[in-house]
Amino acid sequence: MANIRFFSGKTTPIEMHRVRIIQKLNLLPIDERLEAIKQAGNNTFLLKNDDVFLDMLTDSGVNAMSNDQLAAMSQADDSYAGSATFYRLEKALKYVFNMEYFLPAHQGRACEHIISRTFITKKGQLVPMNYHFTTSKAHVTALGGEILEIPVKDAFDMTSDCPFKGNMDIEALKKAIAGHGKDGIAYVRMEAGTNLIGGQPFSLQNQKEVYEICRASDIPLVLDASLLSDNLYFIKQREAACKNMSIHEIAKAMAAASDIMYFSGRKLGFGRGGGMCMNDKRYYLDIRSLVPLYEGFLTYGGMSVREMEALAVGMIETLDEDVISQGPQFIEFMTNELIKHNVPVVTPAGGLGCHINVREFIPHVPQTEYPAGALASALYIISGVRGMERGTMSEQRNEDGSEPLAQMELVRLALPRRVFTMSQIVYTVDRLNWLYQNRDIVGGLRWIDEPRILRFFYGTLAPIGDWQQKLVAKFKKDLGDSL
Ligand code: F0G
Repeated sequence: MANIRFFSGKTTPIEMHRVRIIQKLNLLPIDERLEAIKQAGNNTFLLKNDDVFLDMLTDSGVNAMSNDQLAAMSQADDSYAGSATFYRLEKALKYVFNMEYFLPAHQGRACEHIISRTFITKKGQLVPMNYHFTTSKAHVTALGGEILEIPVKDAFDMTSDCPFKGNMDIEALKKAIAGHGKDGIAYVRMEAGTNLIGGQPFSLQNQKEVYEICRASDIPLVLDASLLSDNLYFIKQREAACKNMSIHEIAKAMAAASDIMYFSGRKLGFGRGGGMCMNDKRYYLDIRSLVPLYEGFLTYGGMSVREMEALAVGMIETLDEDVISQGPQFIEFMTNELIKHNVPVVTPAGGLGCHINVREFIPHVPQTEYPAGALASALYIISGVRGMERGTMSEQRNEDGSEPLAQMELVRLALPRRVFTMSQIVYTVDRLNWLYQNRDIVGGLRWIDEPRILRFFYGTLAPIGDWQQKLVAKFKKDLGDSL
């Protein structure tokens, strides 16, 4: 992290890059935004990007690339088998993680599919994890496995000062292994920068303890490294024992404390794609057999060679603290500004994005009316900012049709790395402040069309009552003809 102090004493994060390619943005008038969200069935996934001002839906595949990444794309070697591009990416990954084998896949969930298919051999086998991600859970359950979430108890404490809310509960893991035995457990999964609890990291110490336990029972430890860059930064910042380690040393230590590491290249490496790294030849051979079946030949795995070139450079750039600190620092700034306005947010600030604590924001909307979806819809209407629902809508119904209520109702405002400027963050804080002052107006949602699997991606909903019209009227009263 660049050591730049302000004479004024203020602490504003500084971009350690300059912007050389830009994309023009469009902010529709509020009546058109109301119409756009109606057309999208109140599901921010279904908004057209042309109707969005600041796209904070996700950081996935939308991080800004560096000039070196763009330059590398032009040397892509397009061949079905044995392309030089593959060997460049393999070499970069070997350098970064010091792992023996690399298998490509088209994105993170493809790795989850292949890993689950390799290790879940019996119905009902458990996959203990610090916390699930939507696609990781969907692949485990689709193949007959069951997930067991065993985070530390701080994980669900919205306003905690615990530096590692993504840690796994070691005693709970021991108990699961003692109770189910090696055969009852397919693999253990640790997710870096734990997405659904607010982009929260785990410590290297915790990962090492989990790894020792797995090794003692010969159960593979699978590290989801999609959000590794944030976790690396937080370990360096928050874990006293790692203070003097370089980012590269921490990355290698994390790789050494896992059997298989997989990643979404849409997050890690600032590109688009995915892959799996490992040392054990047994695992490599088992997993390798599924790559050509589901993804593509072993030297591209469904990725475009141009993206692979960008990933190779992006992986190396991930070792630069100036590069990986930009996201977490902007998120911390945004979180602190919101706290100044009493807007309820998840603390400590994590990676990936700023997370709004919806149950405290609009406590009058019950979970059965999807408050996080409603708040994401409201925020789009009043600002053109597109966030993502991360709550009950993102869960899937139980087999008997009942609805599991999410442990947390969050609106995630992702800050794709190096994409937004400081004034855009300030604008978003301003609109969230207005919305919080007018929170009583916001009501709930009900389904119009509810898909059975991953319903949050493309299901459609309608507002309960006319709260959206009331919100627009109040916005016009307070802000006149402002966009
Ligand atoms: N693991 C984690 C922790 C993720 O956040 C994601 C994707 C995946 C796996 C799946 O990777 O999208 O390449 O197939 N997260 C995106 C998000 C979708 O918006 O948070 P993928």
